[in-house]
Amino acid sequence: MNGVAKQIYDWFDERAGLTELGHKMLNEPMPGGSRYTYVFGSILVYIFMMQLVTGILLMFYYAPTADHAYESTQYIIHNVEYGWFILSFHFWGSSVMVVMVVMHMSQVFLWGAYKKPSELVWVVGTILFTLVVAMGFTGYLLPWDQRSFWATTVGIEIADKTPLIGDFIGQFLRGGPTTGAHTINRFFVLHVMILPLSIMGLATLHIYLFRKAGPAGPYKRDHKELTKTSEYFFPRQVYKDSVAIGIVFLITCALAFYEPVELLGEATPEPGDYNPVPEWYFLFLFQLLRYETFSGEWGQIVGSIVIPVAFMVWLIAIPFIFRNPERRPWKRKFGIMTWAIILLAVAYLTYDYSITEIH
Ligand code: HEM
Repeated sequence: MNGVAKQIYDWFDERAGLTELGHKMLNEPMPGGSRYTYVFGSILVYIFMMQLVTGILLMFYYAPTADHAYESTQYIIHNVEYGWFILSFHFWGSSVMVVMVVMHMSQVFLWGAYKKPSELVWVVGTILFTLVVAMGFTGYLLPWDQRSFWATTVGIEIADKTPLIGDFIGQFLRGGPTTGAHTINRFFVLHVMILPLSIMGLATLHIYLFRKAGPAGPYKRDHKELTKTSEYFFPRQVYKDSVAIGIVFLITCALAFYEPVELLGEATPEPGDYNPVPEWYFLFLFQLLRYETFSGEWGQIVGSIVIPVAFMVWLIAIPFIFRNPERRPWKRKFGIMTWAIILLAVAYLTYDYSITEIH
């Protein structure tokens, strides 16, 4: 740093404690050293920031009303310079975020990184997971074409089936008896205010709790060896995180470029011969509800409410169910098998949906 730059830096440093902050953020000891397996949390922070930036750019043109949402989205795609790319990047960003959140959860689950003293890091993580999925669901309606309108209508009908509070949830989300003008306002407020602010707050809490508990490190806990190979977060983990973020950025760009968002016709209260299709990460639930076993009234409640709620309760409770301090995956056969079966079931149902649709 030359003389003037140093003076300016020192002036701020004296008042804002920049050097100390930098040390706190970057000099976090990582037992066992840096690894590519730890990159997913940082990737999620990066995608969330990109979603904020692209989302804010879209808001310069998007009109969140039933009368103008479709038209303004078409305007973004066809008339705004690079509008199609920003919108497509934002659209694909949400899918990439869902994939990355599942990878992050799977990594910390496999490594047993949710075990004491990191239970709260996991619990806050499960809420973040729900919020990330909710971001996808609420964003899907905003373009207001047939696809978004009918997927949301079906989604809210599923929520309607919740015993006792279903009516309230449906009414709250729709803002009336059918999907319409109030629904888009409510989804917009949830999508651009309530959910992002909640994610920001909870992600901060998540990272604070992570720093308090300390990184779990490798599952082989040989203390002598771990302290020998301990490294700071900077520079090697920062480098690995940056490489991974660069790859995710390029993948999202490629998806946006080769598969840009194209709207169907404007939403109408008549589906015609249009068959509602939700975002790909909800297809497994859609497919489950098509099976004979889940076709009756109670079957629908079990498939759409009981199973997802039971799954969420199980997910939150994981650190309290698997309390054995053993972290090596091959010694935790039951937990690992359960995780694998859930992922395989979701993959199978999604695949089954796609082949039924093609034939
Ligand atoms: C928006 C969503 C999320 C963000 C931005 C996020 C961010 C992070 C970051 C930056 C870390 C620090 C170290 C690392 O990258 O491994 C971390 C650690 C962790 N996260 Fe998340 N996370 C999210 C969702 C989740 C979810 C859904 C879960 C599990 C249900 C979870 C569980 C954990 C656990 C247990 C750790 C500690 C890992 C260790 O000690 O090695 N996180 N998270």
